[in-house]
Amino acid sequence: MSSSASTPDFEGPIAVVILAAGKGTRMRSALPKVLHEIGGAPMLHHAMDAALGLAPARMAVVVGHGAEAVAAAARAKVPDVAICAQEQQLGTAHAVLTAEPALEGFEGEVIVLYGDTPFVELETMQRLRRERGEHGLMVLGFEAEEPGRYGRLILNNSGLDRIVEAKDATPQQLAVTTCNSGVMLGDCALILKLLANVSNDNAQGEFYLTDLPALAAEQGVTTGVVLCDEAETAGINDRLELSDAERRFQVHAREEAMRAGATLIAPETVFFSADTVLAPDVVVEPNVIFGPGVRVAEGARIRAFSHLEGADVGTNAIVGPYARLRPGTHLAADARIGNFVEIKNAEIGEGAKANHLTYVGDASVGPGANLGAGTITCNYDGFSKHRTEIGAGAFVGVNTALIAPVTLGDGAYVATGTVITQDVPEDGLAIARTPQQNREGSAKRLRQVLAARKAKQKE
Ligand code: UD1
Ligand code: MG
Repeated sequence: MSSSASTPDFEGPIAVVILAAGKGTRMRSALPKVLHEIGGAPMLHHAMDAALGLAPARMAVVVGHGAEAVAAAARAKVPDVAICAQEQQLGTAHAVLTAEPALEGFEGEVIVLYGDTPFVELETMQRLRRERGEHGLMVLGFEAEEPGRYGRLILNNSGLDRIVEAKDATPQQLAVTTCNSGVMLGDCALILKLLANVSNDNAQGEFYLTDLPALAAEQGVTTGVVLCDEAETAGINDRLELSDAERRFQVHAREEAMRAGATLIAPETVFFSADTVLAPDVVVEPNVIFGPGVRVAEGARIRAFSHLEGADVGTNAIVGPYARLRPGTHLAADARIGNFVEIKNAEIGEGAKANHLTYVGDASVGPGANLGAGTITCNYDGFSKHRTEIGAGAFVGVNTALIAPVTLGDGAYVATGTVITQDVPEDGLAIARTPQQNREGSAKRLRQVLAARKAKQKE
């Protein structure tokens, strides 16, 4: 067995507590604030994702408003996450205390994060751990452009003396611009012990987590401070901040994609989801949207105005322009999906083509098959969905309806304009259309009759 681990584990176990019980009044929404999405994922998932990078031994999410929906979203990300219900939102200290049962018997560090602060980076959390040294607690702060209602960090020689909430601050304290992000880290047993001593004797009548550094100091325990960029700790409180967060997420995602080796011809017009994966040498043309669950393999090209969601795109495949890939789409290497083609829940084999005006749903298309313009799988009868199987190297002529369930064997050939209602055997030719008749001179005679009729109506 190899003894080398990719991340050194010298810091010991850590538990994560994410506060997500608040109402988010300013969102003016029936949806709990932390479930509003950034990059197609609830903001809660962004916070959880970053925390998962710490490989935590335990993770707890404190829920209150919209508890069931928030709990379900948390479990969707981390199935064994501890859900801690905070019936009344009595303050951030009370919220962390709500997670006490989930921390029972845990020995190590605990980090407190907010569900509505989705951009705190893993590296920043690791810095809090690394720089803790002899400090009992660590607080993440930032230099605020507009300190406003943030808690102020009152520093002393050894680190942090105390945090003062804006509503409780003196004018001199309000002049301090170093503010509290809300992220706090420390020894779990110490934090739980200190939390028990927090009172709500303050301007807001709340139990403040921010009382911990002063309470620690009374016991001779010091608190250290790490500063990060203000943008990293920005909380989201209303729809304007949400759109700003989305914009920042997209800027970051585009940069990451390009650093990882994708070409974005007009990056500002390409929109990513939190889980989009582009391999090196993918080219994305302008105006492309990646919904959740998309992976694109090396050398593939996503042409302009395409919309992809829940899709795997194989090596060197070409998608678009104007293509729509819906969930369950798997394109093998070298597949070609052209303009105004929609694919849903279907495997498209290596080198297979559907280049124009086609719908392929609940289907598998064999390698090298060619679907002509206007090929439609009729997968839904109003009650159930049915599958269409198209064999390797099959050729489907234009304007063909394939009424599922139906199978075209390998090498089958379907004549243009055919409505397929029965299976076609391997290498068989299917044709189902009324034979054409040409009547000599009939068009001329018809025009004369129609013209005469119109002249009579005008009299
Ligand atoms: C808090 C900090 C403040 C800091 C600011 C940074 C306190 C007392 N103040 O203030 O120093 O500058 O964050 O944004 O901690 N929550 C619960 N249950 C509760 C109360 C809050 O789960 O009972 C959650 C909220 O949903 C939110 C987070 O905790 O995600 C912070 O609460 P919030 O009310 O926004 O605190 P601030 O007043 O912003
Ligand atoms: Mg807040």
